[in-house]
Amino acid sequence: MNNKVIIFDTTLRDGEQSPGFSMNIEEKLIFAEQLEKLGVDVIEAGFPVISDGDFEAVSAIAEKVKKAQVAGLARANNKDIEAAARALKNAVHPRIHTFISSSDIHIEYQLKKTREEVLRQAIEAVSYACSFIPNVEFSPMDATRSDRVYLAEMVSAVIEAGATTVNIPDTVGYTIPTEFYDLIKYLFDHVPNINKAVISVHCHNDLGLAVANSLAAIQAGARQVECTVNGIGERAGNTAMEELVMAIKTRNDLFNCYTEINTKQIMQTSKLLVNITGVSVQPNKAIVGDNAFAHESGIHQDGVLKHAMTYEIMRPEDIGITRSKLVLGKHSGRHAVLSRLKELGFELKPEEVDAFFAKFKCIADRKKEIYDEDLVAMIGEVLHKKEQNWRYVVKNIQISTGMFSPPMALVTLRDNQSDTEAIFEVAHGNGGVDAGVNAVKKMTGTKANIKAFNLVAITGGSDALCEVSVTVEEEVNGNVIKVFGNGMSIDVSIAGIMSFVDALNKIEYVKSAGHSQKSKSDGV
Ligand code: KIV
Ligand code: ZN
Repeated sequence: MNNKVIIFDTTLRDGEQSPGFSMNIEEKLIFAEQLEKLGVDVIEAGFPVISDGDFEAVSAIAEKVKKAQVAGLARANNKDIEAAARALKNAVHPRIHTFISSSDIHIEYQLKKTREEVLRQAIEAVSYACSFIPNVEFSPMDATRSDRVYLAEMVSAVIEAGATTVNIPDTVGYTIPTEFYDLIKYLFDHVPNINKAVISVHCHNDLGLAVANSLAAIQAGARQVECTVNGIGERAGNTAMEELVMAIKTRNDLFNCYTEINTKQIMQTSKLLVNITGVSVQPNKAIVGDNAFAHESGIHQDGVLKHAMTYEIMRPEDIGITRSKLVLGKHSGRHAVLSRLKELGFELKPEEVDAFFAKFKCIADRKKEIYDEDLVAMIGEVLHKKEQNWRYVVKNIQISTGMFSPPMALVTLRDNQSDTEAIFEVAHGNGGVDAGVNAVKKMTGTKANIKAFNLVAITGGSDALCEVSVTVEEEVNGNVIKVFGNGMSIDVSIAGIMSFVDALNKIEYVKSAGHSQKSKSDGV
């Protein structure tokens, strides 16, 4: 048996469809580019039939991505399959992923069909998909709650119809590792043509077992795992890519298989996702949480100083975490900064260098010591925002506040939709952020409101670089537009106001023609 485990990333489909994680097309493209750098084998880019936005995103990713396969999801019907085939028409390595439920509870109550009808529909869907693209994946949804004999019959029939990958989803996160191992083994023992397809798994994390179940499936012979960065996804999420990959690598003695993930890109990918969506990972999250490599106990610290492997089973460098070093300051030249970035795994394109340096100088003028973590955060900000043609640009923010005087902010913006060079407004508020946000609201006339505010200090010290992410909502024609904004500064209030302006720009983008937000209820 081939020992490569194919990594199928569904962050942009299953991950993106979960509440709070929507991305616009530019953000999806930036993320897809990073997934390629990470080395995933398949990128599930979206569900083309579900909305114009999803269709455009899948088409754009299909055109941009050259190395990885690009998959589009489709229910088992002609309209969905045709939409997926159209969206993927310019992909170098396209894949159609079609699915229908196989459990009796779904068949009877949701599909209102018989097992025979569903089996026929699955076979027809796979044959139809194969008439467009030979690379077809089929998923019997809710496989783990399906009758095994019927499931095996379906798996065999779709392979016969041309499916090259058959994915076994634990759609509701119900199974446990021993049971899932047994199910995959059962399929290998009872589906005569099983060796003609790759067997894949797709686990949800409702019981916190998605990674464990996926690993058990690998031990039973599965050779593709569907996963998401940071484990995001429907409800409690999907198998976390970084956890799965590092488990296979760290316990190679048990798995005897490998992935082609460039693990040094894991941290950068995780951070990019946080930056785009504004949703942080919990500090104790395995592999990418802030505390994942922090040793607090004296005994552990002593051990790690004597020999890292006493208490570290993985090397932080292997996932792209650098041990924090004091590196740079405002007198550092381009050469020093670019070489340090290169050591950290970032190669800026010539057109990105100026934007990065403008940010670097601005921060270094106020912050004496620039740490590796600061550089990584700046990179995230600059690269994430570089391709956006935003409406508002912050020109200046001035805040005055005190214990006994009402906070006041003067904010100056450029509005790229007007001829005036700059617009400004002054406002009071309950604190610096509130004053600045009120000033922005006054001058832009926006009805948007901040619903959640999240502050992270990137490095220690009173001059720590802060990153604020906000969730902002605005009601437009009866629909609520919900976006995330990020802002970074040494000053907490300035970072907060910048994050609000960033969110306003995204709302403007959503409002602009052709970028409708899909309804979350349309997902799978
Ligand atoms: O959870 C699920 O079953 C899915 C399928 C579409 C693979 O997301
Ligand atoms: Zn799913």
